[in-house]
Amino acid sequence: MKGLVFISFIEFLELRLGVPALEQLLASTELASGGAYTSVGSYEDAEFGVLLGAGCGALGEEAGEVLEEFGVFLFRRLAWEHEDLVGGYTGVIELLRRLDEHIHPAVKAIHPDAEVPEFEVIREEGASIVLEYRSARSLPTLARGLLRGCFEHFGEPHVVRTEADPSDPHRFTFFIDPAPAT
Ligand code: HEM
Repeated sequence: MKGLVFISFIEFLELRLGVPALEQLLASTELASGGAYTSVGSYEDAEFGVLLGAGCGALGEEAGEVLEEFGVFLFRRLAWEHEDLVGGYTGVIELLRRLDEHIHPAVKAIHPDAEVPEFEVIREEGASIVLEYRSARSLPTLARGLLRGCFEHFGEPHVVRTEADPSDPHRFTFFIDPAPAT
């Protein structure tokens, strides 16, 4: 996993926990790389799991909950870091439609060692879209958070329903619809 994801997660924990608690967490967690990340470097997925576990322990929250909240934060960070890629889009559906054809391949072109997931558009109608997510890493809650970050970025409230595939743990479907007016 790219160092950018680790660095962003540490920033997220800093916001949630404050600097002293974060420093304590980092000092007491055994990280294979020693915990000094560069955004262009790549680190073992297992190390992210260790950091996530430590973060969940310190926050007193479940991994799914923390990953989803982190996803919202990560989208903001990615959109800022890759303004060149995200800035050209004016809406949620437009961006999601091109995630697999433009955004993630562009990330791969910049960082050939990045391991990005696959998103296939299954159906699209107006402001609704159905996406199939496939990844060896199976991080549907992180994906949900990234989707929520995307809705927030464009100021277009949507709701997401996730459906797991009982025969394939690496495949999920996201049903994305405009949020009902309140
Ligand atoms: C709503 C929009 C997006 C969704 C749902 C999404 C989803 C994901 C997910 C779930 C992962 C984790 C890896 C995996 O599942 O295998 C990931 C990784 C990544 N994505 Fe996206 N993404 C989105 C937008 C973006 C944007 C806008 C950028 C940058 C311009 C981006 C760049 C990356 C990078 C750098 C990684 C890490 C790759 C690695 O660690 O090797 N994504 N994305």
